[in-house]
Amino acid sequence: MEDMKKVYSEKTIDLFLKPRNLGELPTPDGFARVTGPCGDTMEIYLRVRDSRIINASFWTDGCGPSIASGSMVTEMAKQTTVGEAQRISQQDVLTALGGLPEESEHCALLAANTLKEAIKDYFAYKKEPWKRSYHRQ
Ligand code: FES
Repeated sequence: MEDMKKVYSEKTIDLFLKPRNLGELPTPDGFARVTGPCGDTMEIYLRVRDSRIINASFWTDGCGPSIASGSMVTEMAKQTTVGEAQRISQQDVLTALGGLPEESEHCALLAANTLKEAIKDYFAYKKEPWKRSYHRQ
């Protein structure tokens, strides 16, 4: 634990020891699965009402910083509009986490990119939501 504190912020340690919003949302309004260049995968699930993200969750098979980044990006996305959430960047996640070591900064990028893809998925099905039941994830 003392070693972790030398490398990660308190916020990051808290989020990877006690992840927020971990797990699937059934029949999400937006979903994405993205695998980063490191080989780790993240999924993000969105529940949207009146263009506002009322719930968001994530799953990852990645490292501790990716769990912290998935927790943070879903916390940030909740209660924003999809337009606002689309603008959440890697840097926003890093700032909210109090930074990550340089070699882990890409974990925040994976989280921000997965959120963007989940929002794209939401827009793709917005006009014809019935088509989602035919979509294979
Ligand atoms: Fe792959 Fe962190 S090392 S997401």
